[in-house]
Amino acid sequence: MQNPKNILITGASSGIGRALAICYSASGINLFLCGRNLEKLQETKGLCEELGAKVFLEILDVADESAIKNWIEKIDVLDLVIANAGISAGTAGGSESFAQVKKIFSTNLDGVLNVIHPAIEKMKIKKNKFPRDQIADQIADQIADQIVGQIALISSLAGMRGLPSSPAYSGSKAAVRVYGEGLRGNLAPFGIEVNVICPGYIKTPMTDVNDFPMPFLMSAEQCAKIIKRDLAKNKSRIAFPFPLYFLVWLAALLSTKITDPIFAKLPGKKALE
Ligand SMILES: NC(=O)c1ccc[n+]([C@@H]2O[C@H](COP(=O)([O-])OP(=O)(O)OC[C@H]3O[C@@H](n4cnc5c(N)ncnc54)[C@H](OP(=O)(O)O)[C@@H]3O)[C@@H](O)[C@H]2O)c1
Repeated sequence: MQNPKNILITGASSGIGRALAICYSASGINLFLCGRNLEKLQETKGLCEELGAKVFLEILDVADESAIKNWIEKIDVLDLVIANAGISAGTAGGSESFAQVKKIFSTNLDGVLNVIHPAIEKMKIKKNKFPRDQIADQIADQIADQIVGQIALISSLAGMRGLPSSPAYSGSKAAVRVYGEGLRGNLAPFGIEVNVICPGYIKTPMTDVNDFPMPFLMSAEQCAKIIKRDLAKNKSRIAFPFPLYFLVWLAALLSTKITDPIFAKLPGKKALE
C-alpha cells in the first residue's frame, strides 16, 4: 500500500526487522515493534525516533498466541504488518533434534500466524466501519475499492525448495510462502494486500554465525530498501537478489535426480544451542 502510517514489525531488535523499522521511520509514522530483548529493542527505538517516528515497544515471544492477540487488540489502527521474527538453525552435518524442529516451526510458522490473524481482523473492521446501507452509493463504491491494509510475510529463498542442510527452516519458510500466496487472493476482496518476501543471504546476526561462503550476501539496509520499494508496488513475491533467486527457482523446477546430489553437498548451518 502507498504511504502506510501505522506499521507493526515483529523481530525489530536486530537484523532485517531493525533495518525495516529505520527505513520506514519519518515524522508522522507510528511504529509498533516487538521482540524478546528489551535492550536491543530500545536501541532500535532510539534510532527510529532520531528520524522522527513515534515508537511503541512490546516485549513478547511471537509463539505466545494470547500475548500477541492482547498486544494487537490494544493498537488502534494498523496499515502495514511485517511478520519478520524468525530463527534459523541447521543440521550441523548430522540431523535435527525434534526439539529444534518444533522450536523452528513454532517461531517461524506459528509466530507468523499468531501475528497476522488478529491484524487481519483489525483491518477487516476498518473496511466494514461504514455499512453500505448507511452511506451514499458513491462513497460506498470508493470504500469498496480502498486498500485498508497490507500483510507482509518474511519467508526466504530457502523456502523455495527443501534443504537437507536445514529441513525445518526451509520447511517453515516454504509454509509461510505458500500460505501467503493463497492468502493474497483470499484477502484481496477485503482490501488487504498480502506479500511474500524471500530474501537470499542478508548480513545480520542470523548469518554472522555461518562459517561457509554466502553468495550474493547483501546488507540489511539494502534488503530493507528493496522490501519497502516493492511493498509500495504490492508485488506478490519479493525475491532477491536476482541471481540467487534464479538459481533456486531453477533448482525447484529440475528433477530431484539432478538436484538431490547437489543439495546434499551444501554446508550445514549450526544447530540451535
Ligand atoms: N539473514 C538472512 O540471510 C535471511 C534470509 C532470508 C530470510 N530471513 C528471515 O528474516 C527474518 C529476520 O532475520 P534476521 O536475519 O534479521 O535475523 P536476526 O538478526 O537474528 O533477527 C531475528 C529477529 O527475530 C526476533 N525473534 C526471534 N525469535 C523470536 C520470538 N520467539 N519472539 C519474538 N521475536 C523473535 C529477534 O528478536 P529477539 O531476539 O529480541 O527476540 C530478532 O529481532 C527471519 O524470519 C529470517 O528467517 C533472513
